[in-house]
Amino acid sequence: MTIIDRAIVRALPAVPRRVVKRLSSRYIAGTTLAEACDVVRELNSQGKEATLDVLGEEVTLREEAIGLRDAYRRALDTIEEEGLRSNVSVKLTALGLKLDSGLCRADLTAVVEEAARFGNFVRIDMEDSSTTSETLALYRDIREGGHDNLGVVLQAALKRTLSDIAGLADLGPNVRVCKGIYVEPAEIAYQEDESIRLNFLDALEALFDIGSYVGIATHDDRLIDEALALVERRGLGRDDYEFQMLLGVRPELGNELVGEGHRLRIYVPFGRRWYEYSIRRLQENPKIAGYVALDTLKRLRP
Ligand code: FDA
Repeated sequence: MTIIDRAIVRALPAVPRRVVKRLSSRYIAGTTLAEACDVVRELNSQGKEATLDVLGEEVTLREEAIGLRDAYRRALDTIEEEGLRSNVSVKLTALGLKLDSGLCRADLTAVVEEAARFGNFVRIDMEDSSTTSETLALYRDIREGGHDNLGVVLQAALKRTLSDIAGLADLGPNVRVCKGIYVEPAEIAYQEDESIRLNFLDALEALFDIGSYVGIATHDDRLIDEALALVERRGLGRDDYEFQMLLGVRPELGNELVGEGHRLRIYVPFGRRWYEYSIRRLQENPKIAGYVALDTLKRLRP
């Protein structure tokens, strides 16, 4: 990115919400569960699985956390009723982590139990580093309580990730590995792309060593190629891992993976609270500076 591009990306929060909404529409499946189900149905017809994310994070009221818990239960019920191939992904701060950890635990347990009724699965997304230890502790707690249909996410940007894998080994964890979207300080997080990539691949190796089912969540060609080589070298079966991508990001690359017979799951966010998620996705889009500049020009034109 050029200096100007970076400045535009940093200024995104100042862009009017309706512009953000328009620019980010490819990343969001809509505001309602029905719209999200239409998207999942379409993905399923292309041989792709899905994970539904009810948008919301850092809730400040207990009622909001409870509302999101119920939205997840409805999503799981509807996935079952409509025979969709989808699980769900949850953010613990959306279920009240920063309000009351007991409430968050109860909310998460309720979602996991609802999923278990249908043989379905819940993944806890990983948020910024202020939540990592608590998230992993809650994950352990619920797994040790006998719920096996729960997975977690580890971020290659964090220096602690390999030791977190060692710490989870006894649980045989189901783990999504991603680079990590949050800006973290250099003391705890790798800053260079190359170090993050190396840690990503080390994390994959470490997880396969402990027999984990791994979600390889990236759109990075190099990482995908290296992951494919690793899977081949280890003689892993197609049921030992899956690739994961975000809705609206590099769908042609996803088609190629599906065409080669790999399992691919698409992260499908929906809901009224689309703003924070959209900003993060837009900031990652290499073309976003151009889109924003063009949109701004159009609006300035008399
Ligand atoms: P990178 O950012 O280098 O992107 C590789 C290429 O993909 C880019 O060059 C570009 O071509 C394309 N691309 C990427 N993002 C794009 C965009 N928004 N628009 C257009 N093109 C784009 N993070 C986290 O901290 N906690 C989590 O729980 C999750 N969960 C999660 C689930 C899934 C299924 C995915 C795929 C990702 C996450 N992430 C996440 C986000 C992740 O940490 C990371 O920020 C993004 O995946 C982007 O990193 P890549 O590995 O794709 O590489």
